[in-house]
Amino acid sequence: AKDPVRVLVTGAAGQIGYALVPMIARGVMLGADQPVILHMLDIPPAAEALNGVKMELVDAAFPLLKGVVATTDAIEACTGVNIAVMVGGFPRKEGMERKDVMSKNVSIYKSQASALEKHAAVNCKVLVVANPANTNALILKEFAPSIPEENITCLTRLDHNRALGQISERLNVQVSDVKNVIIWGNHSSTQYPDATHATVNTPAGEKPVRELVADDQWLNTEFITTVQQRGAAIIKARKLSSALSAASSACDHIRDWVLGTPEGTWVSMGVYSDGSYNVPSGLIYSFPVTCKNGEWSIIQGLSIDEFSRNKLDLTAKELSEEKDLAYSCLS
Ligand code: NAI
Repeated sequence: AKDPVRVLVTGAAGQIGYALVPMIARGVMLGADQPVILHMLDIPPAAEALNGVKMELVDAAFPLLKGVVATTDAIEACTGVNIAVMVGGFPRKEGMERKDVMSKNVSIYKSQASALEKHAAVNCKVLVVANPANTNALILKEFAPSIPEENITCLTRLDHNRALGQISERLNVQVSDVKNVIIWGNHSSTQYPDATHATVNTPAGEKPVRELVADDQWLNTEFITTVQQRGAAIIKARKLSSALSAASSACDHIRDWVLGTPEGTWVSMGVYSDGSYNVPSGLIYSFPVTCKNGEWSIIQGLSIDEFSRNKLDLTAKELSEEKDLAYSCLS
């Protein structure tokens, strides 16, 4: 039998946490043969709710779940973890300035970076979900210098999956037959959902989405804005954020990173830029990646036309500004 993997979920008493922890305990994230020990962190006002989640995990009698640590102590939460899914953060409330929200999250991610750096298992993989996801991940990276930079990522897989979903609906094909969309840049409304290289598996073989849609206008306008604004549309409909799909996509992100992407398929991950596609280095930026042996690598050599170039640059510019804002909160 395999040794259990310790998985940390911060903000575990929240919406996404509640959807995510049962998925992890059922093997959705790491496989149906991989035992897990869940570490759940939240803040003192949520301690009672967190304990309620722990009670439900016990009640669900998950065969793969070998233990649960539920705590408000970051050090206890981070100790020995192999995977850290950072969902906890300070939400933007009505009337708050961008800088005030950034400042709260910078201080959270700075201190949790230190707890992870000192107490997590060697080679711990980190996924930041909480917004501003890319910049929270960047702060975490800066304040956990001994964690390899390639181990720190942020979630844009939800946007990626949303893009697959939109194409599947538009073409009336199975979502599992659509692949290789790309989310470039920030997990925000400046992200660029790009279907230029996407394909659909059809009875007549693999076809480019561009050819099947036969309407560049839709791909260059409504497709992009629908994916960019999908989070807001869900909040409007549910009066709550997209917790189910965020949790499911977080599982996809970690599963593909650890177990590998299927041959010929790439996915989107927010990773530390190495300057690929002339994206400034030093940002956490979403790129198309493949994963193998627990490591991601950016797909190289894709053609970028002028339309795409502008959109890649625009979202990079926003990330540079967010980075400056985050740094101004540190001083
Ligand atoms: P929520 O408000 O229901 O839950 C957040 C939880 O974090 C709360 O239980 C809160 O007490 C906890 N928390 C706050 N500060 C903390 C700290 N310092 N340490 C540990 N826990 C802390 O929010 P929800 O809906 O679960 O969303 C969580 C985050 O994920 C938000 O920032 C949201 O914007 C983001 N999000 C990101 C997506 C993505 O694709 N990257 C998609 C959807 C949401």
